[in-house]
Amino acid sequence: KEDDSPAGSASSGGGKKLTLGFSQVGSESGWRTANSQSVKDAAKEAGFTLKFSDAQQKQENQISAIRSYIAQKVDVIAFSPVVVTGWDAVLREAKNAKIPVVLTDRSVETSDESLYVTLVGSDFTDEGRRAARILEKVLDKAGHKGPVKIAQLEGTTGAAPAIERGKGFKEVMEAEHKDDWKIVVSQTGDFTRAGGKQVMAAFLQSNPDINVLFAHNDDMGIGAIQAIEAAGKKPGKDILIVTVDGVKDGFVAMSEGKINAIVECNPLLGPQLMEVVQKVKDGETVERWIKTEESDFMQDQAKEALPNRKY
Ligand code: AHR
Repeated sequence: KEDDSPAGSASSGGGKKLTLGFSQVGSESGWRTANSQSVKDAAKEAGFTLKFSDAQQKQENQISAIRSYIAQKVDVIAFSPVVVTGWDAVLREAKNAKIPVVLTDRSVETSDESLYVTLVGSDFTDEGRRAARILEKVLDKAGHKGPVKIAQLEGTTGAAPAIERGKGFKEVMEAEHKDDWKIVVSQTGDFTRAGGKQVMAAFLQSNPDINVLFAHNDDMGIGAIQAIEAAGKKPGKDILIVTVDGVKDGFVAMSEGKINAIVECNPLLGPQLMEVVQKVKDGETVERWIKTEESDFMQDQAKEALPNRKY
């Protein structure tokens, strides 16, 4: 799906408008919807011509979109890679065509670091660590005693946030909770509500003694809540829930007592991205990784924070 939206205002300096080709992962979650909107709004605000395409969570669609941006000779290509591997060939084509590539939101694994200029996005490993840290508080607050039997709903298999959130969480767990915490089941829910619901229903069948859920995003957590309720259990009480993102629906579920804590992952990357894209086009040096600032929220902060959530 491609959408060419020539942006409104004139470019800085009154010269030719900068053309940005952007390949989005898909529209799998509330986070993604907010991220796409932020990119579109910020491109308009910056006066860029934005060529935007939605890859529907398929790597081959992203590769085709990038190839088409190369053929169209855009000034800069930005994309949020659905998975970490398999990009070298198309990135080399961009490099040979002298079109700089900026990664946004998610990173890639490459044998040649010169194939992209920078990454604008979150530290997902740290989000995983923060999820484990906030789970310590949640267990404490709930007065939990005894073994912690964790179900993990992973993001899209092979995607940076799924790999790194899992890694960061495990790091804290193995260093400090080796004896009392255990991930008893872990499977992908593909970052979607439907996936979260379906996989959680299966988890509850195979492991009815789960008492904690760590979901790699709010949407899967919300889907899981439906499965937990359908199984006659109370989300947020019988099963303590920690999720990542902080979208409005996540905050609604948290203010209803169904999610215990959320680790924020900020999707509003558009303004920072456009700033970097302009600098890259102008030949300025930019940092290799431009990180996003984020917070963590416990259930008792949900009601107050909800009206101020921007996504
Ligand atoms: O890459 C960011 C992740 O992708 C978000 O946490 C998730 O909701 C989205 O689909």
